[in-house]
Amino acid sequence: MKYKLDSRLLAVADCVPDGAYLADVGTDHAYLPIELALQGKLRGAVASDIHKGPIESARKNIDEAGLSHLIRTELTDGLAGLEHYPLTDVAIAGMGGMMIAGILERAPFIRERRIRLILQPMQHVPELRRTLALAGFRIEKETQTVADGKFYQILCAVYDGEIRELTDLEATVGAYNLAHKDENKDNFTLLCRRQLDILSERVRGLTRGGHDASVPQRLIEEIEAALSTL
Ligand SMILES: C[S@@+](CC[C@H](N)C(=O)[O-])C[C@H]1O[C@@H](n2cnc3c(N)ncnc32)[C@H](O)[C@@H]1O
Repeated sequence: MKYKLDSRLLAVADCVPDGAYLADVGTDHAYLPIELALQGKLRGAVASDIHKGPIESARKNIDEAGLSHLIRTELTDGLAGLEHYPLTDVAIAGMGGMMIAGILERAPFIRERRIRLILQPMQHVPELRRTLALAGFRIEKETQTVADGKFYQILCAVYDGEIRELTDLEATVGAYNLAHKDENKDNFTLLCRRQLDILSERVRGLTRGGHDASVPQRLIEEIEAALSTL
């Protein structure tokens, strides 16, 4: 097996603590648990996928890396059936934010056992933040990376049962990122600029159609104000 983790999956790997028992949901090629096992970070892992092709390729890669004693594979939808593993962490990377939210909602054991989540949504990041907050998950950390010119966000969360109502600004750029913006100026600026582009496009579309654009316009002003204090 020849592979090199790109900076997106490396950033996900960096969020996994030493000694973790990891479920990598939607593993595809299993590069993430293989890398972590090679780094010596894993106590064990299960690499799962809903499709047969990816699971076969995961198994082949795991066997070739000589890691089948450490990484099991499961053909399953989301986290179904994975409650039997002694999981400490769950990674879900490379899927849409709402798909990730659906997988988590169907797995109550994540909440009951306070299993840590490392999530790398491809789209709908604000919607995922809001869903997590309303479902009682606390964002412990967020990190960002650029790979192949694309900007990726990684959210680490754990259930604490407290229901949080996020403001539009907090959902859009992340309450954690707002609180830590001075320590992470470059990524915070990139994140805000990206959201400003999306919101400006939305304002243009609404205005063209003769609709009220005051909500995205207000959000633009709030993001610009957050940027101006850096
Ligand atoms: C784009 S790949 C991402 C692979 C890898 N996690 C990464 O970030 O590079 C998405 C994978 O998720 C799998 N998948 C989609 N829906 C799923 C579900 N409900 N449960 C488990 N796997 C799923 C797909 O089969 C595919 O292999």
